[in-house]
Amino acid sequence: MENLMSACCSKCTHDQSDPCKDYLLCRTEGPICHDSEECRAKRQALIDKVHLSAEKSNRRVLICAGTGCVASGSRDVQQVMLQAVKDAGITDCEVSITGCHGFCEQGPIVIVEPEGVFYGGVSADDVEEIVEKHLKNGELVERLFFTEPNSGDKDKYYRDIMFYKKQERMVLKNCGHINPEKIDEYIVTGGYSGLIKTFTDFTSQKVVEEVKTSGLRGRGGGGFPTGLKWQFTAQAQGDVKYVVCNADEGDPGAFMDRSILEGNPHAVIEGMMIAGYAVGATEGYVYVRAEYPLAIKRLERAIAQAEEYGILGGNVLGSGFSFKLKIKAGAGAFVCGEETALLNSIQGERGMPRVRPPFPANEGLWYKPTLLNNVETYANIPIIMEKGGDWYASRGTEKSKGTKVFALTGKINNTGLAEVPMGITLREIIFDIGGGIKDGKKYKAVQIGGPSGGCLPEEQLDLPIDYDSLISAGAMMGSGGLVVMDETTCMVDLARYFLTFTQNESCGKCVPCREGTKRMLEILTRITEGDGQEGDIETLERLAKSIKNTSLCGLGQTAPNPVLSTLRYFRNEYEAHINKKWCPAGECKALTVLKIDPEKCNGCTRCARNCPVEAITGEVKQVHEIDPEICTNCGTCIENCRKEAIYKG
Ligand SMILES: Cc1cc2nc3c(=O)[nH]c(=O)nc-3n(C[C@H](O)[C@H](O)[C@H](O)COP(=O)(O)O)c2cc1C
Ligand code: SF4
Ligand code: SF4
Ligand code: SF4
Repeated sequence: MENLMSACCSKCTHDQSDPCKDYLLCRTEGPICHDSEECRAKRQALIDKVHLSAEKSNRRVLICAGTGCVASGSRDVQQVMLQAVKDAGITDCEVSITGCHGFCEQGPIVIVEPEGVFYGGVSADDVEEIVEKHLKNGELVERLFFTEPNSGDKDKYYRDIMFYKKQERMVLKNCGHINPEKIDEYIVTGGYSGLIKTFTDFTSQKVVEEVKTSGLRGRGGGGFPTGLKWQFTAQAQGDVKYVVCNADEGDPGAFMDRSILEGNPHAVIEGMMIAGYAVGATEGYVYVRAEYPLAIKRLERAIAQAEEYGILGGNVLGSGFSFKLKIKAGAGAFVCGEETALLNSIQGERGMPRVRPPFPANEGLWYKPTLLNNVETYANIPIIMEKGGDWYASRGTEKSKGTKVFALTGKINNTGLAEVPMGITLREIIFDIGGGIKDGKKYKAVQIGGPSGGCLPEEQLDLPIDYDSLISAGAMMGSGGLVVMDETTCMVDLARYFLTFTQNESCGKCVPCREGTKRMLEILTRITEGDGQEGDIETLERLAKSIKNTSLCGLGQTAPNPVLSTLRYFRNEYEAHINKKWCPAGECKALTVLKIDPEKCNGCTRCARNCPVEAITGEVKQVHEIDPEICTNCGTCIENCRKEAIYKG
């Protein structure tokens, strides 16, 4: 049985004109129509290949082929591994690629199943040792184990690594474990069974009710209840309707949607098909930014395979429902992630937001009723349909159900993607999963929610994360970007950095966003350059309020958030910059003076010898001094002083 159109064995009566509608169930729960040894053997071989068991001698070497690992050389590792396994005469071991594990800084990552051994930072030169020691002789290659940043413990197995232990991987379950380029692997791990259940047990209206029961809220930023959005689109009048997937992912540092598309593309296709069935749409678009070539390639392949299997196309699985899916590559403007700008962009127009209402549910793509959701939102749908809305609603918090994928970056030991249950605290994410702050420094704040999010200080570390708690703390879920800052980060400069981004990305359609963010940025720049004036804070607050209240789209409505949240929690830093002309974090060059501690300096002259502008004077074995008039704050002397005698005063 190659696909839905072909016979599974000699007893099979199905052909092109009468495809088997039980194909998918048969793969995982069969036999369904008839029983035959030939059929069973084929099915079992496929299941065995993916679900390895400890009793069996066969192994799978899984090489991560997500963007991060590919960039650090995993394709070479794969080629050399394939050859080495062959040369060693090992026949019961398959070498396969997977999507991203979310721990890209450890890449290239190689997992050996069924043991679940995790090797990080593997290069082509390490392959021979893995084959000789592990695959041939059952000895593990310890030097490639992951070392826990705090305890220094070496973890043998994937399941022991702290980064993964506190995660609850539902949407990312398949990422890193199946080959995303093979539809069969998705199917034998239960893929498309949510779709079958939808067709067999649910009317369109019942699907909408099930999604409502699940309590799922949109993962693209705003957290709008997904079931309600589906209901609006289902009720909208229109002969043609569309389902659109927002895979623009414009937030700097975020890569969760890309990872899902690269590692588990069929989950998004399945979610969109269920959505199409629920709202009465027969055509869908996935809008992916062109900077994601691998995600586009994997999605194209997945669509082609689903079409070949008769899953996408006409009369899907004999249900009478038809659905086709297209990809639209976007040119990568942040504002094109805004839903109405995205729709304009698909239509070939300039990606600028539309005035709402009407909302896309009534007038969306080509002004027809359109359902638009985010990648992660769609990827949750098959899980809801398979396990039930009530099951889903039992996870997470009262008003935010399920899990959320976060992108952890910044001054943290373990950077990467983490899928956690809603309600987990920031402390657990940053210190348990993230392994704490780098280089033993002190935690200062976390910027959560992307460029339009907010910064939360130490006293908010025990905040349970959900949509509403974050908003009341002055931040937002956004798409799930989480940037951790240590004591050396200046919060005024950070707010300036994020506002620079949103200001650059403003499409210019409305005055408050176009001009207002510019004025805010000018003030922030002045403050960080030492020219802050009395009244600046009040002007910033006034401008922020009016930009939020009067901008046309979410970009302008949220752009002032980083400024407002830093003013809320770190007002003293603004005051120090303006009133004392001093940057407490020592980051703003114009407001930072470098000094040498006479108690520590032994006059070794290293600083003076390395200073590019000859700002340091002092005799050998005498305490040295820095001339602040000449010093450019480049930091070279700090790096060179072995006595740690130079500090920012
Ligand atoms: C400036 C801006 C950028 C956005 N970028 C994205 C994005 O990259 N991906 C996304 O899914 N939603 C993005 N959104 C949110 C979308 O407008 C929309 O709310 C979301 O895609 C709806 O899907 P959901 O209900 O599943 O969250 C952005 C919104 C704004 C205002
Ligand atoms: S708020 Fe900004 S990005 Fe949105 S429409 Fe207005 S100018 Fe464009
Ligand atoms: S490098 Fe450090 S110890 Fe040496 S002279 Fe400079 S400040 Fe003093
Ligand atoms: S910060 Fe740079 S310019 Fe200033 S004293 Fe040190 S080395 Fe010289």
